[in-house]
Amino acid sequence: MRFEENITLTHIDQGTPMGDLLRQFWLPALLSEELPENDGPPLRVTLLGEELVAFRDTDGKVGLLSAYCPHRRAELYLGRNEGSGLRCAYHGWKFDVRGQCVDIPTDACGPEVLKRMGTTAYETREHGGIVWAYMGPAQPPADVPELDFCRVAPEQRYVSKCLMKCNYLQALEGSIDYSHISFLHKDLEGGTGKADTFGLGEMIKYSEDDGRPTIFCDRVEHGLQIAARREAGADAYYWRIARWFMPVIVVVPTAPGNVCRANIFVPIDDENCWWYRIRWHAERALTEQEIEGYKHGAFDYAELVPGTYLPKGTRENDYLQDRAEQRTRSFTGIPSAQLQDLAIQESQGRIHDRSRERLVKTDLPIVQCRRSLLQAADELVKGNAPALASRPQAYRGRAYAITRPRNVELARIREELANE
Ligand SMILES: [Fe+2]
Repeated sequence: MRFEENITLTHIDQGTPMGDLLRQFWLPALLSEELPENDGPPLRVTLLGEELVAFRDTDGKVGLLSAYCPHRRAELYLGRNEGSGLRCAYHGWKFDVRGQCVDIPTDACGPEVLKRMGTTAYETREHGGIVWAYMGPAQPPADVPELDFCRVAPEQRYVSKCLMKCNYLQALEGSIDYSHISFLHKDLEGGTGKADTFGLGEMIKYSEDDGRPTIFCDRVEHGLQIAARREAGADAYYWRIARWFMPVIVVVPTAPGNVCRANIFVPIDDENCWWYRIRWHAERALTEQEIEGYKHGAFDYAELVPGTYLPKGTRENDYLQDRAEQRTRSFTGIPSAQLQDLAIQESQGRIHDRSRERLVKTDLPIVQCRRSLLQAADELVKGNAPALASRPQAYRGRAYAITRPRNVELARIREELANE
């Protein structure tokens, strides 16, 4: 990859090719639970390099405004959330969720003046426990993506997020990299016992038995369909078939009947991102045991600093790596698959330099993902907005991990899954 292409892919400020492409899509701005009550305290939000303030107004609608009052540039975050608007603590100017200035109590201003004093506001919608924002130049072309987890009852899903101190793209690439699971997440004791609780035993077993998956990668309307095939005994293959939804959503393969998984990687700025992790079950409520596990760092969740979305393991404390564990029990000695991913992806640098890589066949999905993003960004520069942004229904569909006899071809498996 050329150095310039890496700059294009990783820089997300307004006016950059990738920044403008990302602004064509609805993106998670925060979790609904971060603004638990109407007229409650506002929240500082940085999204795509823009400093913003979020608040839930008297009617429950979430506003997402420029962080600074247009009057004297004081932080609206310090203001009062009252009577269907956020009031600046400096001179009492008040703004509603649409960014309209509705009161200037220091001056006798007519409606004409109020109109001119409005501030930047981005449209928001709440779905699936997430407040989505549209930061594009015009009206959103469609509603938020119809992801499966948004379409089940709240008790059937668990949504959380975790800070990653690196560029969004290397975080995303980790989620579509299907050769790393045989190593980074290897349990030297074959620890299927504790994994089985979460229905991941098969993944661990076959990934450890066969570290050289055959990778298939197809460009489809929503982005990529990625399949990793591993040996599963003498007669069968273990398939992991994932979906990448342009630009930053990955639905991760899980066995039929199990809890489903999705990841969304949202740029905070060029050097930081949020990793939204979603679990949902298509047919039933999640159990207390499942939710407690997700909340408290069981198996594949990183433990968070209580009351925050910050991981306990950081570069400063070597991601809680235990060298004795690394010799005897786990490939990394780092607790939890999520923290293992986070550690490795942060270790690539704040913005990974792709011009210095040496890629091999199994990296195909990563290459395809980059190409798709570069092409879409290029098209947008030419004035062609991505058609996918106005096709929310293209975001439906889960991803599967299944075992099939060796003579069953991928095309047939896809057909079978499409009919599920
Ligand atoms: Fe991983």
